Amino acid sequence: MYCLDNIDNIKNTVRPKKTAHVYVPYNCGRKCPFCESRLMYDTMDTSLDKTLDVLRRIADSDIEDIMITGGEPCADLDALSKMLEVLKDKIVYVNTLFPSETAADIAKLFDEEYPCVKGINVSRHCNSYEKDSAFLAAPAEDSVLGSLKVPVRINCVIQNKEATAEWVDSVVKRWEVQYANKKNLELHFREDFNKVTAENLHVQDSPFLKTLCENYRYHYYNMGTSFDDVSFLADSGMTVYYHKILPYSICKIGPLTILHEMVVFPDGDVCTDWNQSKEGLEQYCQWVNFKL
Ligand SMILES: C[S@@+](CC[C@H](N)C(=O)[O-])C[C@H]1O[C@@H](n2cnc3c(N)ncnc32)[C@H](O)[C@@H]1O
Ligand code: SF4
Repeated sequence: MYCLDNIDNIKNTVRPKKTAHVYVPYNCGRKCPFCESRLMYDTMDTSLDKTLDVLRRIADSDIEDIMITGGEPCADLDALSKMLEVLKDKIVYVNTLFPSETAADIAKLFDEEYPCVKGINVSRHCNSYEKDSAFLAAPAEDSVLGSLKVPVRINCVIQNKEATAEWVDSVVKRWEVQYANKKNLELHFREDFNKVTAENLHVQDSPFLKTLCENYRYHYYNMGTSFDDVSFLADSGMTVYYHKILPYSICKIGPLTILHEMVVFPDGDVCTDWNQSKEGLEQYCQWVNFKL
């Protein structure tokens, strides 16, 4: 397959963004086998008060956009509303399982009450453990996601690199049903980041990617210091991504240390990386005008 990219297609030429990654101060009830973040909650003294205090300082800073993740942001809608209220003048994205029990309330929160939420990333990993652990937090029906106004990205962590073209096609078709009436829905196949290293980040030898190349129309390739994205268009026009990202956010390139974001942990601790590193924290806080 030829990559006929031109400069207009390269998204990462935009100016650096001032961003924060916030872990909500409560865990999720599930056990996705590849997920390390739920384990972190077992050893942390979570605090909504401390998180809100940090968010107020983020609201007063030059930080432009905030990713709210977890744990499960939608497991406590009162707490999530308090966080969104503080961040209502920023750009916010939310990672969520989108549980079914409170689906109508969640939809109201994102579609009506908090227009600051510019997109949600919904985990649908398409594997048997989803059904096995459904009693912990049943995922909302696809049609619920398809009727949301807020842009939706479906995140599917790849658990079988050798997945057949038929299996990939069945996942694509599943979401094309919703895409038919919701053009702001896209599908991300994500490599398990626990297996991604600085050495293999840009080595694209996955049979899964080959399957996508052989079956979908190439759209664009976007390479960053911490990620690699290849996107495709399905027949319907829905965008399908192959996404590979490092399991940490600070990147070292020769003498340069690239700080991508501020990270807020469930106990209110402020760091510069998902592994709780505080390298360059003072400098980052100065750059984004955040009071430590
Ligand atoms: C840790 S989850 C927290 C939010 C929410 N509970 C959920 O599952 O969407 C945040 C995002 O990380 C993704 N994720 C978790 N473990 C991953 C892994 N090992 N590799 C790639 N993505 C992963 C999830 O699919 C989700 O989109
Ligand atoms: S629902 Fe989210 S936070 Fe919970 S285990 Fe799965 S990926 Fe991790």
